[in-house]
Amino acid sequence: MTDALEVPKLKLNNGKMMPAIALGTYLGFGQNGTIKSQNKKLRNVVMRAIDIGYRHFDTAFIYETEEEIGEAIRMKIDEGVVKRDDIFVTTKLWNTHHKREQVPLVLKQTLDIMGLNYVDLYLMHWPIGLNEDYTFSNVDFMETWRGMEDAQRLGLTKAIGVSNFNAEQLKRVIEEGSIKPAAIQIEIHPQITQADLIEYARSEGIVVMGYSPFGSLVMRFGMQFPGPKMDDPVLVEIARKYNKTTAQVILRWQVDRNVVPVPKTVNYERLKENIDIFDFKLEQQEIDKINQYDSHVRYTFPTFWQTHPYYPFEKVDNPLSDPFIGRKVNSFSNTKS
Ligand SMILES: NC(=O)c1ccc[n+]([C@@H]2O[C@H](COP(=O)([O-])OP(=O)(O)OC[C@H]3O[C@@H](n4cnc5c(N)ncnc54)[C@H](OP(=O)(O)O)[C@@H]3O)[C@@H](O)[C@H]2O)c1
Repeated sequence: MTDALEVPKLKLNNGKMMPAIALGTYLGFGQNGTIKSQNKKLRNVVMRAIDIGYRHFDTAFIYETEEEIGEAIRMKIDEGVVKRDDIFVTTKLWNTHHKREQVPLVLKQTLDIMGLNYVDLYLMHWPIGLNEDYTFSNVDFMETWRGMEDAQRLGLTKAIGVSNFNAEQLKRVIEEGSIKPAAIQIEIHPQITQADLIEYARSEGIVVMGYSPFGSLVMRFGMQFPGPKMDDPVLVEIARKYNKTTAQVILRWQVDRNVVPVPKTVNYERLKENIDIFDFKLEQQEIDKINQYDSHVRYTFPTFWQTHPYYPFEKVDNPLSDPFIGRKVNSFSNTKS
């Protein structure tokens, strides 16, 4: 496609290149569980995304979107628009598959579902292992990591990494594993800037992917949460200066912090808007201004797992009364995640 935007790439520690923005494909959670794509809507979005320049797609076993992403990629390869090499697929191992021997098997299952021979990055979705019935399993995430390493050695994935690990957990993987993680995916937006974890990962040559990049700027779970919105005067002023939208400024803020943002949209206009961020650059003082919104708010905050030995986040006093979502954690000083 001649009108496709060229997306820069970051080098991973396995020598492969990761496109600097990924399209998120988690469709959310509704009354009947995980929301599924209807009438191949997501497949069509991914095909359109490839046409306009997206080369990186983020999915997970638990999102139930792997199949349509695989189908879209295969159709675009068949059309001659891209080659498999041009596309970067990130997917994730679910918590109920943490036993070492399960890991290559479920990744093979994922590859069958996607109709692909390999993925580019396989992430351990959480350090938390669960049994089939969602009771806590006692599988050590280092056992799971050995399974991730097996999967890479078998050629099922080009690289492996982790998601929702805190700094100590990441350190343990680095120290005790045989293959160093290539990437870590964590929640990053103006209300949770993750400066320490980003710096630690950078010092170890590990690329950081930032999920839920819009934070409070968009509705979550059908609700508005406190925090900056699209019409925030500080963000609007920066956006006006570059003739961009607030959403584009927030994504560029991530890129300028060497974070690969993972914005999700199924809207064709916003698909274009979100990738059109590589022709400007924020000044350091603008980055600093956005960093000031940090109040350590997470929207992915599964406190119902907080008694698990490998729960990665700050704990709250009364988890059952705490919603899964969007809480401000006051004890910032002991919240190194
Ligand atoms: N590793 C993990 O545990 C984890 C956890 C959460 C998410 N993720 C990944 O990160 C991806 C993104 O996270 P997310 O979906 O939570 O949050 P997000 O990308 O920050 O927000 C998505 C929401 O923003 C809207 N939106 C997108 N672009 C917009 C724009 N330019 N202007 C205004 N609204 C816009 C979308 O609506 P429309 O679709 O209608 O545009 C959608 O409602 C997920 O899809 C998933 O791939 C990973």
